[in-house]
Amino acid sequence: MKPAFAFLTIPSAMLLLACSKPADSASNAPTPPPVDMVAEGLKGYTANCATCHQVDGYGVSNMQPPLVDSDVAKGDPTLVIKVVLKGPAAVLPKDRPHYSNVMPAFDRLSDEQIAEILTYVRHEFNHDTPGITPDQVKTVRNQM
Ligand code: HEC
Repeated sequence: MKPAFAFLTIPSAMLLLACSKPADSASNAPTPPPVDMVAEGLKGYTANCATCHQVDGYGVSNMQPPLVDSDVAKGDPTLVIKVVLKGPAAVLPKDRPHYSNVMPAFDRLSDEQIAEILTYVRHEFNHDTPGITPDQVKTVRNQM
């Protein structure tokens, strides 16, 4: 039988823990993306990317490439952020495979939105590749 006071002590212990946690405890170690970033990223992906790359991320043959197992999507964070901010034509090598559609630049999206979308794409379509933070997007945007 559970003592009644457990219901009081557990929340207050959690509160104490939350308060004593140092604000700058973030480390550089890769951590799994927070669930809400993936959830928000799904919304952003559906609204901005899925018409071309499809809901399942497999694209449409000859029109737009798959994002599933895409070397660009799962590769260097700076490159994939640039692809979204500037559009692939401005960023990727000239000898890349040709697709009949043209992807616009998405620099109108916020740092948060781009981070969420790319976190979703990397988590969902590329075997849990580490996510992208709004700070990473901000840094790349400021360098452009
Ligand atoms: C109008 C259609 C369209 C939309 C909308 C679109 N894309 Fe694309 N995307 C393309 C096409 C076409 C290419 C290939 C273009 C090229 O190589 O010049 C591409 C390429 C890419 C690549 C590089 C893939 C690779 O393996 O080379 C990434 C990453 C990408 N898109 C992500 C996104 C994301 C994220 C969004 C939403 C914010 C998005 N795209 C929206 C059409 C689109």
